[in-house]
Amino acid sequence: MAFENLILEKEDYLAILYINRPKALNALNAETLYEMEEAIKDIKADSNIKVVIVTGVGDKSFVAGADITFMLPLSPHEGRFFSDVGERVMRQFELMEKPVIAAINGFALGGGCELAMACDIRLAAENAVFAQPEVGLGVIPGFGGTQRLPRLVGEGRAKELTYTADVINAQEAYRIGLVNHVYPADQLMDEAKKMAKKIANKAPLAVGYAKFAIGKGMQVDIDTAMSIESDMFGMCCATEDKFEGMGAFVEKRKPTFKGK
Ligand code: CAA
Repeated sequence: MAFENLILEKEDYLAILYINRPKALNALNAETLYEMEEAIKDIKADSNIKVVIVTGVGDKSFVAGADITFMLPLSPHEGRFFSDVGERVMRQFELMEKPVIAAINGFALGGGCELAMACDIRLAAENAVFAQPEVGLGVIPGFGGTQRLPRLVGEGRAKELTYTADVINAQEAYRIGLVNHVYPADQLMDEAKKMAKKIANKAPLAVGYAKFAIGKGMQVDIDTAMSIESDMFGMCCATEDKFEGMGAFVEKRKPTFKGK
């Protein structure tokens, strides 16, 4: 599929989605968001793809935010609509059953930090920096940042980062739990691919059900969450891969999962 502002590469079980607007440090305008929706549809429909990596083109920027030039003239109605579209696209990464790894290769500002937070796992290059700079532009985070940041790093830290617009480096992002790992920039993609391979070698339906249980469970009370978990556990027991996984253990061999 050909895109103007994205590159979608597929290698075997892996889809790599590059945000590709290097002249604007990969800032997200409406066109890019719509293209992301198309790319997500493609990835979801491709049964060969088990894991997704999202990253930015170049060695300087993951995504430097929503496109400020695009947002400057927006009316209240248009602004709300743009925020809705961004929120919807970010949410699709969370709702798709395939795990999504953010390989954060530089600036992750505003909508860039929000995109990273919508991914399941965040790996950062040592040169990555993070911020929610929106209040310095007269707006607030509009692609889910006011909701995901407190869920990830706690309400107090989220409020401080959002109100001050402070920029933090990758080590600080790691310390507060915003990213899972930090790697030298030239190793980031290799590490992301290594993690993708590890995940792709597991039972894909079980991984998808685990993503569902964690995602849905985080939104509800603990008893409802436990019930979602047991539902998903039961669903796993309906898969061929459960018999393969447990059978392989008993027979002391490596399992071969089929995603069925
Ligand atoms: N939107 C539009 N264009 C952007 C951009 C953005 N978010 N970020 C960078 N660019 C453009 C610059 O305008 C510049 O374009 P020109 O060459 O045409 O002038 C080009 O990318 C390179 O940027 P700089 O020259 O500024 O590069 P730098 O290395 O000096 O600085 C930077 C890099 C610190 C990231 C700086 O560009 C910057 O502060 N960008 C804005 C970051 C920001 O505030 N992001 C949040 C946006 S608001 C948001 O995201 C709202 C939301 O939640 C929905």
